[in-house]
Amino acid sequence: MVNYAQALTQKLPGGLDVCFFTNSGSESNDLALQLARHFTSSKETIVLDGAYHGHLISLIEISPYKYNGPGGQGAPDYVHAVPMPDPFRGKYHGTDAGSEYAQEVKIILGKIQNSGNQVSAFIAELIMGGGGQLIPPAGFFQMPSSLCGMQAAYVSRMKFRSVSAGWGIITGASRPRA
Ligand SMILES: Cc1ncc(COP(=O)(O)O)c(C=O)c1O
Repeated sequence: MVNYAQALTQKLPGGLDVCFFTNSGSESNDLALQLARHFTSSKETIVLDGAYHGHLISLIEISPYKYNGPGGQGAPDYVHAVPMPDPFRGKYHGTDAGSEYAQEVKIILGKIQNSGNQVSAFIAELIMGGGGQLIPPAGFFQMPSSLCGMQAAYVSRMKFRSVSAGWGIITGASRPRA
């Protein structure tokens, strides 16, 4: 596992050099949230509309697919959904769609800050499974990463064939110290 962690971190950007191994996507995402909340002393979380992040209570609370679905109870007040960055069926189309969707993240960030809070986490899949294997438009992730980078947990999860692998990637200052 140490060899694997070393091989993995060599492929990641500098500073991402601590690995936690978990048994499921839900466990990865729950742990990432826990780290971000502990570091920021905040629960304010930005999510993509339609997203699914796992079956734990903590994750149903940040999964629009679940909290807006049958039996769902809506978003808790610390969860803020931005439009699904769908370049085909979504709010924005064309070559500027990536930055237009990212602008929606910036607006929510401003609202969180104006209410006297700081963001704890921005959570997103790089390719949205729950959104229909949606590939966000080019440039979408650049702004949230730079805006949230020093304070937020950035989490993605990938599926390989029938095997699911959970990746909780914590960026910037919320990265746990080695
Ligand atoms: C996007 C996404 N996140 C998290 C999970 C939860 O992963 P697991 O079922 O391994 O707990 C899933 C499961 O399908 C998923 O699709």
